Amino acid sequence: MAIVTGASSGIGGAVARALGAAGIGVALVARRRASLEHVAEEIVAAGGQAEVIAADLREPEAAREVVASAVARLGRLDILVNSAGVARYSPVIDGDSEDWQEMWGINVLALARLSREAIASFPEGGGHVLHLGSLSGHRVPPGGGFYAATKFAVRAHAEALRFELRARGDKTRVTCVSPGFVHTPLAEEYLQGAGKTLESLGYEALQPEDVARCVLHALTSPASVEVNDILVRPAGQKT
Ligand SMILES: NC(=O)c1ccc[n+]([C@@H]2O[C@H](COP(=O)([O-])OP(=O)(O)OC[C@H]3O[C@@H](n4cnc5c(N)ncnc54)[C@H](OP(=O)(O)O)[C@@H]3O)[C@@H](O)[C@H]2O)c1
Repeated sequence: MAIVTGASSGIGGAVARALGAAGIGVALVARRRASLEHVAEEIVAAGGQAEVIAADLREPEAAREVVASAVARLGRLDILVNSAGVARYSPVIDGDSEDWQEMWGINVLALARLSREAIASFPEGGGHVLHLGSLSGHRVPPGGGFYAATKFAVRAHAEALRFELRARGDKTRVTCVSPGFVHTPLAEEYLQGAGKTLESLGYEALQPEDVARCVLHALTSPASVEVNDILVRPAGQKT
């Protein structure tokens, strides 16, 4: 069974559908219950298994409750996909600290708490933790400084987790998938802050399904293979 956060929209929704189609039971996590139920209905209609867990992952207790509820409803937990995230166009020189707090709370702290809880619940032979990082975790775009700081932290978390797991002899694999612009509400909101739109970029953004394919590649690789990082840009992206 897999837990997918951010499953009410964008990349998380596409990953949940792809996992459901691959025959893996999925626990769908986000705040908007109606949107989660819509994704769950699609997965079930295609012959898959899905359960909805509505939660605000900024709440410190949410990670423990989400993992317990997913295991109670779908059985053994093997995979955690951390896709829940927010991106505000917020510079570090004069950005708004509420935006910073929201980004840090969901992009970093919620991801770290859920990873800890999932690892404690994985089977003896290990599981798989997959983070949605970003191209902004590889280079800093002008104006999006604080978002980039959270995404550099996501990659650092993945690396730290991998080495701590290895030191313990735990075979759990850790992957970070880092896309450039993807056609989702998050990208639209971020670009709006810069006075731009997805259409004004001058190239076609990735589709959530393009990223879901990268995620599935990492998750379905043989147990002896750990895909550490996937960096994927739209073919036309210049920066
Ligand atoms: N789109 C891009 O261009 C792009 C590029 C690089 C990386 N990424 C990363 O990819 C991931 C997914 O983004 P997306 O583009 O798919 O965005 P999206 O379509 O806006 O989805 C974001 C998801 O995060 C969930 N979420 C936000 N705050 C939450 C909270 N407090 N508690 C629980 N869930 C919460 C939202 O659900 P609710 O609102 O229902 O809670 C939603 O399902 C993010 O980590 C993002 O940083 C995106």
